[in-house]
Amino acid sequence: MKGLILSGGKGTRMRPITHTAAKQLLPVANKPILYYGIEALVDAGIKEIGIIISPETGEDVKTSVGNGDRWGIKVEYILQDQPAGLAHAVKTAQPFLGDDPFVMYLGDNLIKDGVGPLVREFEKGNADAFILLKEVENPSSFGVAVLNPDGSIKKLDEKPAKPESNLALVGVYLFNKEIHKAIGLIQPSKRGELEITDAIQKLIDIGHKVGNHILKSWWLDTGKKDDMLEANRVVLDEMIEVNLEGVIDAASKVSGRVTLGKGSRLVNCTVRGPAIIGTDCLIENTYIGPFTSIGDRAHVSFAEIEHCILREDCKITDFHGRIADSLIGVNVELTRGEHRPVAYRLMLGDDSKVEVV
Ligand code: TTP
Repeated sequence: MKGLILSGGKGTRMRPITHTAAKQLLPVANKPILYYGIEALVDAGIKEIGIIISPETGEDVKTSVGNGDRWGIKVEYILQDQPAGLAHAVKTAQPFLGDDPFVMYLGDNLIKDGVGPLVREFEKGNADAFILLKEVENPSSFGVAVLNPDGSIKKLDEKPAKPESNLALVGVYLFNKEIHKAIGLIQPSKRGELEITDAIQKLIDIGHKVGNHILKSWWLDTGKKDDMLEANRVVLDEMIEVNLEGVIDAASKVSGRVTLGKGSRLVNCTVRGPAIIGTDCLIENTYIGPFTSIGDRAHVSFAEIEHCILREDCKITDFHGRIADSLIGVNVELTRGEHRPVAYRLMLGDDSKVEVV
């Protein structure tokens, strides 16, 4: 069984952050989202993973992930020249996949439970594909499955205007070699993409068996800013433990589950977990509230920050105000002239410079 992780795409819904950064490298609890997918496959016993990359962000993905040694696996990169759809990505990966069965995992998705049990169920069963479904409130934003009374799949629709069910396709799929045949039989959709939903529908139409499993635990698709913040909230809530490796002065108060990285210093601060602060940060005269992740080497002074993701090398100094529900890119500088009792909700791309006066 091989793994195929999709880390190409355009990331239009996450601009301006994705003008300079790969969406899949954005951090959740200070770890790139992509790593959660890699680790889910590694935990399932997969030793060979192909990663689909785009010409724009592929080099960054390669630099970050490397050759897989750190997970004891082999990683191969597959360049998709344009983001022509999930089925197009599979087609592009065919030389890597050969006739092997594989797990396809969308690189911007997170699921609570690993994929090990699904992989084993697929290997034992007689289905040619296996999909995961999850009840959602906004099915028209997803591929949607309509089931027969016996629980088998009746049909699949990609982002239907009038969804006939609330079961969305989660970004984890299991396939054997039959999927390549089905992809060869479909045409690009109205939005010009080769849709994996259409390919799976084609499998059903030509008489193949497609199994499904309805997820009860959480699944997060981090396509937009608020999805990222929600992913950060959920992961901090479930995974962060107390680990204080930095220096905390006598005037600072730290409560709840907080991780403070090596070389970081808290000076006259209040930090309420769950929260994570990376390495070599300086945080002074600041309140850090729950569900906040602060990247390495940040410098923050005179600010209140809650429910935010700050990437590496940010400088939020002499701010005298509150920042909430915000996603702030690498190396952003943010300062403010005078005290005003307002809150800011921000999405700032890498290298932004903002002065609020
Ligand atoms: P999407 O989030 O559906 O697409 P996108 O990344 O282009 O984002 P947007 O809609 O905001 O423009 O893609 C899901 C995952 O699959 C994501 O990790 C990117 C990846 N992908 C590819 O690798 N190749 C593709 O052709 C497409 C469409 C997506």
